[in-house]
Amino acid sequence: MNILVTGGAGYIGSHCCVALMKAGYRVVILDNFGNSHPEVLRRIEKITGRAPINESGDIRDRSFVEYVLEHHKCDAVMHFAGLKSVAESEKKPDLYYDCNVVGSLRLLQAMKSTGVKKLVFSSTATVYGVPKYLPYDEKHPLNPVSVYGRTKLTVENMLRDFYASDPTWAFSILRYFNPVGADESGLIGEDPKGTPNNLMPIIAQAASGRRDKVMIWGNDYDTEDGTGVRDYIHVSDLAEGHLRALKTLEHPGCDVINLGRGRGYSVMDVIKAFEHISNRKIKYEVGPRRPGDIGEFFANPSTAFEKLHWRAEKDLEKMCTDMWNFQVKNPDGYK
Ligand code: NAD
Ligand code: UD1
Repeated sequence: MNILVTGGAGYIGSHCCVALMKAGYRVVILDNFGNSHPEVLRRIEKITGRAPINESGDIRDRSFVEYVLEHHKCDAVMHFAGLKSVAESEKKPDLYYDCNVVGSLRLLQAMKSTGVKKLVFSSTATVYGVPKYLPYDEKHPLNPVSVYGRTKLTVENMLRDFYASDPTWAFSILRYFNPVGADESGLIGEDPKGTPNNLMPIIAQAASGRRDKVMIWGNDYDTEDGTGVRDYIHVSDLAEGHLRALKTLEHPGCDVINLGRGRGYSVMDVIKAFEHISNRKIKYEVGPRRPGDIGEFFANPSTAFEKLHWRAEKDLEKMCTDMWNFQVKNPDGYK
């Protein structure tokens, strides 16, 4: 089977490409390298022993996407391409709606015109917004508090509308919790362009000396130690979840599935675990709460278990070990 992977050079996409190729799929990556490095393609080849097909370009270019789908006889699409910074989305909503919403629409139009009707979509737990109850299940009300979150919810709604109009589509909407870690090889991992915003890459950089300290955004939340609690999930577990979701696309439908572990760790838990794994002291300072942050959230992962027969296996220690391995082997990222 041939799979088009949009954003396949990015953090989560590259791990899914590895999982797909190890499982015998033929992978075509469509990426504009706006937030990734072409070196990733060589690393994927090193891990899997096969080169993924590279089609550099933009998902907003409908005729190019049609060409790629037809030329490579794609059977299904995994759609990761998009922008993901909450802070940037507040400053540049036009860019975020264009890339995430218009980009997804162009992709769907290209799929429709070429008859490719299967898609796995990267959504996010951010679509739930302030928790009415925890853990979040898929029926929790949807009320994202950021522009980024609203672009993702808009795409989810678009997929539901496409399916309602034509029930031969097969969509799997995956709501990720907090993906962290790296491939065991240490060859691929998270290497965002510019300054990272997410906790784990910041901790890894502080442990390696690439940055001075971690700023903890608030320690006055209603959590065990006052710092924010999240449901971290190893990116390789996440990739395995995508493989399972892809298999369900044999049958038309529009499923929505949380991908998380179902347990939360605080910022302090993560710092301590990382200190233990890296054997380094991590300096930190407590600052004010980050605007738009939620104190605590984690997944009810039972739908994933029922529908995908999948559950995340790797624990916090493994997430930190693989993250640290990537950091040590690639002190300056992919450069
Ligand atoms: P990433 O930035 O590492 O990967 C995204 C990839 O898409 C990059 O390689 C980028 O160059 C490419 N891209 C962006 N816009 C494009 C366009 N218009 N055309 C072609 N390529 C384009 O991000 P990631 O962490 O791998 O996230 C992948 C997806 O998962 C995103 O859609 C993101 O919103 C979603 N997501 C991520 C997280 C997370 O914590 N990382 C959590 C929930 C959901
Ligand atoms: C953030 C985004 C979310 C997005 C997700 C994945 C915000 C408000 N939310 O989620 O929409 O889907 O990333 O890209 O940006 N923390 C610190 N210091 C730091 C960084 C983080 O204390 O320097 C804390 C946060 O307050 C939070 C936890 O660490 O409690 C995790 O933060 P992060 O990794 O940014 O993930 P989210 O906040 O879940």
